[in-house]
Amino acid sequence: MKNVKSAVLTTLEKHRDEFFSGEMLAKKIGATRSAVNKAIKQLRNEGYNIDAVSNKGYSLVHTDLLSEEGIRYYLDDKNKDIKINFFKEIDSTNNEAKRVIYSEVKPSIFVSEMQTNGRGRLGRNFYSPCGESIYLSLLVKPNTSLGLKITSYVAVAVSDAIESLTGQNVGIKWVNDIYINDKKVVGILCEGVSSLENNEIEAVVIGVGLNCRVKNFPEEIKDIAGNILDNSTITRNEFCAKVIDNILDILTKIDDNSVMEKYREKSIVIGKDIRYIKNGETLFGKVKNINDNGALVVEDNGVEKIIDTGEVTIRNV
Ligand code: BTN
Repeated sequence: MKNVKSAVLTTLEKHRDEFFSGEMLAKKIGATRSAVNKAIKQLRNEGYNIDAVSNKGYSLVHTDLLSEEGIRYYLDDKNKDIKINFFKEIDSTNNEAKRVIYSEVKPSIFVSEMQTNGRGRLGRNFYSPCGESIYLSLLVKPNTSLGLKITSYVAVAVSDAIESLTGQNVGIKWVNDIYINDKKVVGILCEGVSSLENNEIEAVVIGVGLNCRVKNFPEEIKDIAGNILDNSTITRNEFCAKVIDNILDILTKIDDNSVMEKYREKSIVIGKDIRYIKNGETLFGKVKNINDNGALVVEDNGVEKIIDTGEVTIRNV
């Protein structure tokens, strides 16, 4: 049944706004009429809005549900066969990727419609309501040691996806928060597992939380969080596929310093006075640059310092 349902959804997704009779669908996907009817019923139960018009057939009305089929449909041909683990609900896609880190193929994708324990950097929560955002993790095995660079590269890949699909300009706040109009719209949490024997990274989980059409942010973040797709008709499936394609692509360019150049262009901290915490001590300084490893070059009382961990706050001086 899963395969008929999946084939019906893929066909309707591919031909949005076109109508298919039950017979045409059955013929196209090589299933019986009754299997197609069952699949349509199941898809409707799952929330898909499938129109049925007499003498015309079925058509997928604009819906914004995330699905494995929908994401796969929009992926680049070279990534079409990637393994996608899709969840309606999960504690955290990063947790799930880490649970199967040794057994799962690499690269593979973990996507969920909601998270019950979405995690952010520095032990924080990531607000993860159902059906309004995208919670995505990529499990990859990089062939070089990436360190801080990977987070910066992922931020560039996601920024490019937003700019190319929605036309909005984004800014990156070191190290990995993406902003539109002064509101944070994306958070990135990269976690690595390295081997103690050879000190090499065995696998990396790249977690990306993308606020798409969140209706009500909680009180504590409502003034600082924003959405990416509020003024756009792009579906979350298409957007998610673009983000995956861009990240997989940028991971092949890890020695290409033009990516860091792009990161610097989009940075909203270069030239700013900041506050940062190092070894428990709160310090102040001016960001001079971001080096090719993704670290901040900060001037503090005439002394240059390199900051490669923690978080910075831009000061309104
Ligand atoms: C941050 O803003 O501090 C990082 C947020 C990262 C959130 C994403 S959502 C998908 C993946 N699963 C998680 O639990 N966290 C990351």
